Amino acid sequence: MKEYFKCDEWLVIEEGFASEYNRVSESVMSLGNGHMGMRGNFEEHFSGDSLQGTYYAGVYYPDKTKVGWWKNGYPEFFAKVLNGTNIFGIDVMIDGLMLDFNQCEIKEFKRVLNMKEGYLERTATIIDQKGHESRIVSKRFVSMKTSEIGCVAYSITPLNYDGDIILTPYLDGYVQNEDSNYDEIFWDEVDKKATTDLCHLTTKTNKLDFVVTCAMDYSLELDGLPIKGNPLAIEKTYYVGNEHHVKMHKGQTVQLIKYIAAVTNRDYDNDDLVSSAVELVKEAKETGFDELLLAHLKVWAEKWLENDVRIYGDVKAQQGVRFNIFQLNQTYTGEDARLNIGPKGCTGEKYGGSTYWDTEAYCIPFYLSTAGSDIAKNLLMYRYHHLKKAKENAQKLGLDGALYPMVTMNGEECHNEWEITFEEIHRNGAIAYAIYNYTNYTGDSSYLDQYGIEVLIEISRFWASRVNYNTYKDQYMILGVTGPNEYENNVNNNWYTNTIAAWTITYTLEQLKRLEQMGSESLPVVTDKEKIKWQKIIDKMYYPHIDTYDVFAQQDGYLDKEQILVSELDDKEKPINQNWSWDRILRSCFIKQADVLQGLYFFSDRYDLDTKKRNFDFYEPRTLHESSLSPCVHAIIASEIGYHDK
Ligand code: BGC
Repeated sequence: MKEYFKCDEWLVIEEGFASEYNRVSESVMSLGNGHMGMRGNFEEHFSGDSLQGTYYAGVYYPDKTKVGWWKNGYPEFFAKVLNGTNIFGIDVMIDGLMLDFNQCEIKEFKRVLNMKEGYLERTATIIDQKGHESRIVSKRFVSMKTSEIGCVAYSITPLNYDGDIILTPYLDGYVQNEDSNYDEIFWDEVDKKATTDLCHLTTKTNKLDFVVTCAMDYSLELDGLPIKGNPLAIEKTYYVGNEHHVKMHKGQTVQLIKYIAAVTNRDYDNDDLVSSAVELVKEAKETGFDELLLAHLKVWAEKWLENDVRIYGDVKAQQGVRFNIFQLNQTYTGEDARLNIGPKGCTGEKYGGSTYWDTEAYCIPFYLSTAGSDIAKNLLMYRYHHLKKAKENAQKLGLDGALYPMVTMNGEECHNEWEITFEEIHRNGAIAYAIYNYTNYTGDSSYLDQYGIEVLIEISRFWASRVNYNTYKDQYMILGVTGPNEYENNVNNNWYTNTIAAWTITYTLEQLKRLEQMGSESLPVVTDKEKIKWQKIIDKMYYPHIDTYDVFAQQDGYLDKEQILVSELDDKEKPINQNWSWDRILRSCFIKQADVLQGLYFFSDRYDLDTKKRNFDFYEPRTLHESSLSPCVHAIIASEIGYHDK
């Protein structure tokens, strides 16, 4: 599996079709432009294993929570970005037989994601059940220039037959989220119209009233000359389409170019949706595929100019780093402060397209260093807008200040596993850290001064109410948490959490002092009593340590665990989250992702190289990297301490 895709510096190549990997290929071959995105599904009907997926940024649904055992404080809903109208579908019939790659002999197949130019191309030669051999080429993109526009150029050439080919481009709004908790269809059909060329379809979410209108138009050519193809307009429930009958001779090529526009009532009034989508799609057709693609390529070229990371002599690593850069740019373009970054972008439904601490801890540094500061600032504003909800969230747990959710769409917590919802509170620290990171990197303190200070104060208040004072040790502790390492829950004194909590309070006090000295008006009031308590917490925070190895202890009692190294594990047992019982994972010393090392990475300037090396040498061999958030942090520290091969 690991070698399924071919290595190339700019392309992800699937050569030969293995249907058992189709879902993976569909995920990897996803396209997006910040406004919408879709998996690399086939245009044609496909009866094999596939997840048809099209996602519209910010269009989500509060799916009623499903848990085995309800715990007070659980949220009632999990908000998920919805799988919406399929816009790239084209059904193909050859002499009355529906073309289905799953039923065909595939003589030749190549699916290529072009990351440099942001398009997906597929070429194939297939033989159907009646022996028709056809050559099929499709190329598609969603425009980075005009984010509401997408295009696919689809062509078919009969290689050994004369016959009737029916091409049916369509819009299909009858889609279901695979991860729907109660198998509900989240969409209602609102409006549709199919004429013999232009079609549109409007669907609305059953809750929250998000409305999405998609429109399609197309052109048809036979051997490069425009044809009409006897169109037939089709309207079905949640569906509009156009059927084109084309009489074909062996060796001729019919090409259909489908233009799509997708708009939502996040950006338009409900009454204007249809006219806007229709206008956009007409304009797109007038502009034409080649021109639209050119404008799209230009945006990508500009992005790559600023974003590229060159790795010489290792094509696989080059491909990998570009894939990540490509995905980040496809997922979030930064113009809209209401949007954020779903951990899996538009590649599927896992994580519901919601916002996680990933944004602040992992993504912001990328945007900071590759784009104008306004983009990272929008991400900070997103959290500022959610401050009220974060305060409600803390209150719900009986705590002061603000607790930002682990998973969210509108500021409310969506996650419902106690060990994460209530315990993975280190996420709050990442939100404070991002404010520091932004200000430090850009030198622009305007966000901090106007908005960030309020966020910092409320997060500090949260920490001050969440710590507990241990009278025997005369130290502050943070009990019952889950650190970044999710393979242990309910631990006491996770070093990383304690560190980031005390750091947040320190930074807040420093910034408050600076702003007070500047005579800043309308500063939120923090009483002297509060400040004294905060200072006490900073001075008396407890940081667990393992003396034997002279390293920070991931948490109290970490060394009580049986110490085995990942190198001693049989490959068959990995990933352990799929092969071991949860109980065994919790008792083991194995670490999912950077935990202590996450702290060394964030607060790099506090620790000398020897300290970093000792901690790396101790923790990395116990770390499984079973989160994709893990290797990056380890790689950065490894590189710092001279472990270049690592
Ligand atoms: C990681 C979390 C992360 C989440 C979303 C989990 O597997 O452990 O740290 O926030 O995935 O990426």
